[in-house]
Amino acid sequence: LSSTEVDLAPIAAGQAVTVMWRGKPVFVRNRPPEEVQAARATPLSELKDPQPDQARVQRDQWLVVLGVCTHLGCVPLGQKSSDPKGDYNGWFCPCHGSHYDTSGRIRRGPAPLNLAVPEYTFTSPTQIRIG
Ligand code: FES
Repeated sequence: LSSTEVDLAPIAAGQAVTVMWRGKPVFVRNRPPEEVQAARATPLSELKDPQPDQARVQRDQWLVVLGVCTHLGCVPLGQKSSDPKGDYNGWFCPCHGSHYDTSGRIRRGPAPLNLAVPEYTFTSPTQIRIG
């Protein structure tokens, strides 16, 4: 399948799901306001791969990123409530210790780039199509 539909309705605030798209995991996270604020309060000068949060989302609440660490391609942890989320409350890659923030941006560790944002569109207020 070249595109993947995701129903957002079952994803509670503060939760995330993993869906598969073209053989790769994609993380879809329902961000509560504090996660959005944390991402937006971060000065770009603190970022290794400087991108404003606003440029990475279509709607503040929903973050959609490839679940592929930009170091050597492991799948970062941070989806389940029991997962470590790293020092910036986003995702933690256990392979070599990369920490991503609530915008999926690299903040610490060997990964060079932010988690990539795939092409997607909102097909309704509670549905997206990836790809
Ligand atoms: Fe993620 Fe190396 S693959 S830190």
